[in-house]
Amino acid sequence: MIEKQITAKITFYSIDELSESEKMLIEAAKSAAKSAYAPYSGFQVGAAVLLGNGEVHIGNNQENAAFPSGICAERVALFHAHAVRPDTPVFSMAVAACQNQLFVQEPVSPCGSCRQVLLETERRFRQPIRVLMYGQNRVAVLESASDLLPFAFDDSALI
Ligand code: THU
Repeated sequence: MIEKQITAKITFYSIDELSESEKMLIEAAKSAAKSAYAPYSGFQVGAAVLLGNGEVHIGNNQENAAFPSGICAERVALFHAHAVRPDTPVFSMAVAACQNQLFVQEPVSPCGSCRQVLLETERRFRQPIRVLMYGQNRVAVLESASDLLPFAFDDSALI
């Protein structure tokens, strides 16, 4: 038997401890959350990605009466960014969510499908993506999407 431990690092910050550009990215995610289309869950999520060329692209969740047809904020942001800038790496992503017009107290963590897409984006550009998850009480920060999805499936299994 071989046993391996996979560790993931997560750091919690107060908003004041973040840099101006990190705060700006979080503000972009919060603003995007406000225009999410989430009539079924009432859970409005916004995501903002900072690209290697300095551009910020946003996304928010887009729900549908046929529930599985909806899509999360993180994937809207990533797919939109790469629809318009196919060759530009993602440096960081901020995520924020609100319910009943109030931003959540604790950081919101991306779902499994979004983790998979984040990971592939990171590996595709060989560029770790810093993930900032906003909550009113604290901001959780990961240095890499691989901390969100250890022992992940990727294209190496297909070759
Ligand atoms: N959602 C996101 O957009 N991102 C997350 O990180 C978690 C969940 C959306 C999906 C659905 O529209 C709603 O939030 C409730 O699950």
